[in-house]
Formats: sequence, structure tokens, C-alpha cells
Amino acid sequence: NRHLISAGDLSKDDALLILDTAEELARVSERSIKKLPTLRGRTVVNLFFEDSTRTRISFEAAAKRLSADVINFSAKGSSVSKGESLKDTALTLEAMGADAVVIRHSASGAPHRLANWVHGSVVNAGDGTHEHPTQALLDAFSMRRRLGSLDGRKVTIVGDVLHSRVARSNVLLLHTLGADVTLVAPPTLLPVAVGSWPCEVSYDLDTVLPKSDVVMMLRVQKERMNAAYFPSEREYSRRYGLDRDRFAKMPDDAIVMHPGPMNRGMEIAAEVADSARSTIVEQVANGVTIRMAVLYLLLGGEST
Ligand code: CP
Repeated sequence: NRHLISAGDLSKDDALLILDTAEELARVSERSIKKLPTLRGRTVVNLFFEDSTRTRISFEAAAKRLSADVINFSAKGSSVSKGESLKDTALTLEAMGADAVVIRHSASGAPHRLANWVHGSVVNAGDGTHEHPTQALLDAFSMRRRLGSLDGRKVTIVGDVLHSRVARSNVLLLHTLGADVTLVAPPTLLPVAVGSWPCEVSYDLDTVLPKSDVVMMLRVQKERMNAAYFPSEREYSRRYGLDRDRFAKMPDDAIVMHPGPMNRGMEIAAEVADSARSTIVEQVANGVTIRMAVLYLLLGGEST
């Protein structure tokens, strides 16, 4: 594949190649080798039209650890504020020699459109409510490092699925990797199309928790929220929040995940987020490794 736009485009072999390459790269980092020469002379452009902390910084760190040159572009402070289009912005960056463009955009489908306009590889770093494939890959990598094979694992994804590109990418990728996914959300925070997704749906977190190997909490996306869908934070927290009592209902070896940023005290209690069974900080570190693997495979070669 020349681009990474949807987790659904990855075959099981593709996904395993990315995870295995990331494992090799993690072993190299553990040997205190900070930088590899693999992408010397290549240019990666980070094109961010929406805010980001983890994704943007980790793509930058990943590209630099592979010795690529990195150009960081953020819509704020650019000529986008003067009305320049995505296409003209992309062509301008391509004229500066981009071998790969990493794009985050509020419009679902923006990376797909970009792929028709530029010659380099396009990597989707989150498009609207559609997909965030490298988040799903780093989540799968984090699960595999803690639990081993994902085949037959029970993964429960909880919360604001309606607005979550993380949930959709995870459902698609985890299904490909053989895991059984259950989405738990209030009916108003589930997409209409969820019936065609390869997963189960439940409205009752307390019955699903004791059967879960992984519980992934989603951020309540207040900035995308229609008030009619979301009666009150207190009610949401009471029914769908992972608090201390619910955490105690999980099997002893089950893990807790969250893509970040978190609303502590709403979808997840602080003591649960900070517990030894939470992978939240590991997910961030694994994000750099997975993005190194993706850039390496798109720009540098087939295997380590
Ligand atoms: N998980 C995630 O995509 O975080 P950022 O929005 O900070 O990149």
C-alpha cells in the first residue's frame, strides 16, 4: 500500500507486518539506539488542520528517529486563515518536496482526497469522525505487548462512539486481527450504521465488564456534541464512567486503555487512569514506535 487512510484497508498480513516491524524497532530502541539512518534525505510533512498533542508530536519524533526531514504545518497561523484550499495547501507543500504527508483534518474523507492530489504517501492522522488508523495500530500493539495474541480476545470500547474515529478504526483493525469487539454506549451516542460494523453492541457496561480482556474508554467529545444527545455529565458518568467500583468488576488481568486526551472524572476516574493496569502512558510511547513502523514501511522498505 502507498497510503494509510483506513484501518479497513489493511489485510491481516499487512497489520501483522506493521506490528512486527514496530516490535523490531522497539527492540532497537531498547538497545539505546536512538536514531536510524533509514529515511535520510526523505521529507515528511505534518499537515494538521485540527489540534493534536500525541499524534502530531509522535509523528514528528518517529520521522526524526528515522533521520527524515520534518516540516510541521498547522492551519492556525497559515494562509488557510486567508481562505487557501486544502488542494492548494497540499500542492504548495508538495512543491517543497514532501515524500509523505501526514494529515489531520476535521472533514471525514480529507486524506482520501489529498491522495488524489499529491505524489507522496498520505497517512491519515484523524479525519473528522471517520478514522484514525495509526491510533488503532498503536492500540493493537499495546494490547499485544501486554496480552500476547489478540485472537479471541474480548475488547470492550465504551462511550462516545458517535464522534469517535478511534472506535471505528479499532473495530475494523481488531476484527481483522481476530479479536471480538463489543461497543458500549448510550443509544444516542452510537452511529446509525453501527449495525453493519463487525462488532457487538450493548447498552449495559456492568454486564460486559466481567467478560472483558481490554476495556477502552473513549473521550466524550464535547466540542462535537449536540446537547440533545448528551443530557448531563453526571448521568453519563454514573452509567458509562469507569469508576473504582466498575474497575473492580473487571477480571484481575484485564487492562484499561484510553487514546487521550482524557476527561478525568467523567469517562474515567483518575485512580483508574493511573493504575498499574492502565496502558495510557504506554500507548503514547508505543505511538512513536508504530508511526516509525508505518513511515518505514511506506517510504523505506518491506522489512527490518
Ligand atoms: N489520541 C490522539 O489522537 O490524541 P491527540 O488528539 O492529542 O493527537
